[in-house]
Amino acid sequence: MRNDQYTPRPAQGRLGILLPGLGAVSTTFIAGVELARRGLARPIGSVTQYGTIRLGKRTDKRSPRIKDFVPLAELNDLVFGAWDPFPQDAYESALNAGVLDRFVHIEPIADFLKTVKPMPAAFDQRYVKKLEGINVKPGRKRAWADALREDIRRFKAENGCDRLVMVWCGSTEVYIKAGPAHASLEAFEAAIDADDDAIAPSMLYAYAAIMEGVPYANGAPNLSADIPALTALAQERGVPVAGKDFKTGQTLMKTIIAPGLKARMLGLEGWFSTNILGNRDGEVLDDPESFKTKEESKLSVLEHILQPEMYPDLYKNFYHKVRINYYPPRGDAKEGWDAIDIRGWLDYPMQIKVDFLCRDSILAAPIVLDLALFLDLASRSGLGGIQEWLSFFLKSPMHAPEVYPEHDLFIQQMKLKNTLRWLMGEEQITHLGLEYYLAEAEAAAGI
Ligand SMILES: NC(=O)c1ccc[n+]([C@@H]2O[C@H](COP(=O)([O-])OP(=O)(O)OC[C@H]3O[C@@H](n4cnc5c(N)ncnc54)[C@H](O)[C@@H]3O)[C@@H](O)[C@H]2O)c1
Repeated sequence: MRNDQYTPRPAQGRLGILLPGLGAVSTTFIAGVELARRGLARPIGSVTQYGTIRLGKRTDKRSPRIKDFVPLAELNDLVFGAWDPFPQDAYESALNAGVLDRFVHIEPIADFLKTVKPMPAAFDQRYVKKLEGINVKPGRKRAWADALREDIRRFKAENGCDRLVMVWCGSTEVYIKAGPAHASLEAFEAAIDADDDAIAPSMLYAYAAIMEGVPYANGAPNLSADIPALTALAQERGVPVAGKDFKTGQTLMKTIIAPGLKARMLGLEGWFSTNILGNRDGEVLDDPESFKTKEESKLSVLEHILQPEMYPDLYKNFYHKVRINYYPPRGDAKEGWDAIDIRGWLDYPMQIKVDFLCRDSILAAPIVLDLALFLDLASRSGLGGIQEWLSFFLKSPMHAPEVYPEHDLFIQQMKLKNTLRWLMGEEQITHLGLEYYLAEAEAAAGI
């Protein structure tokens, strides 16, 4: 398929990254970008900063860096804004989060971090039970939506930004099922006016962003933009959206291991996943209603990768359990255990144990950067609505209603790279590779 219509415009001027939620992930992300800009640390884990992309045949030896291939915003052109119900600036919040080493990675850039001060949040404790905010907007939902739109415009003007993107790094909200209030824009707007409980604050940020033409990504599992009213609005206005839930830690491991087991047709009997973590996110997820939102997001991954309906002999009725336990001593340094019971030749049982001593925000920060830069690219390319090619970064990828979500990390990666090739008018890579052999065979046979 050729692309004549969606060639990206160059990335000129400043790109503002707006972050609802100035907690562990956001501050680790902001600090990381600033440290990288000053040459004090490396942005490892970022596909936009380190990834390469093969073009043409293997014999062509063309594999530029992704950032030299597609026009992406430079780190030096990024500016940051945030909202949070807690008034602490990025410096204090980074100290509280306890992710980064104070003397190595926070104090040297304290002057910069202190300039990122959260705007008052559109916040209601009924959606995040464990938090009590004081830096909050007055009024109710319609007033909050209007105020968020005003914040967006003011931020853009005050910071001389050419473009903006928004990435939700706020807490996981309580579980809400998509219903009539989310079915159409009319119903959604009426529900805002009626202050309906079905409208969570994260939906108001998404709505404000789309109305202002700002691409939006959701790093948490709550619905936010993933409702028909907002995906249709994004499509109609040509605003790219992506979500949900950053793919880090245990789910990242799951989407690496499960496709491998399936590729080799090894059976699965059970997969037990448990986590201990002690950061604020862990505390929020200690509330059963917020955990339910997260659990839904984590559970569906294996079903979609393993396709039990196609391989009933191997994957029907496998037992899958996910637990998250709040355990303060660990802070942000999470421990995720997986006990995986598999079956091989003649049904012989085998076990795999994974003990991932990971750092949640260290894994999430590069995803914030990559989603922001790729969404900005999508916007400059004229792509609107759901950006399924960004599923690579997400645990519960948003997708068109007629298809199932693609969870396999390696298919997601191919989709991402082929989308970049398509945008730049390069050939898709199928990995067929027969031409290297058939040409010789044909020549030998005198064809
Ligand atoms: N770190 C990871 O690996 C990872 C992976 C996937 C998803 N996530 C999600 O990313 C989000 C952020 O994680 P974190 O570790 O930074 O959590 P955190 O608790 O440190 O930060 C979240 C911040 O959001 C703020 N907040 C809550 N409601 C808000 C609202 N309505 N408006 C603005 N701000 C609001 C909170 O006050 C808090 O400061 C969470 O939802 C988490 O589940 C994190």
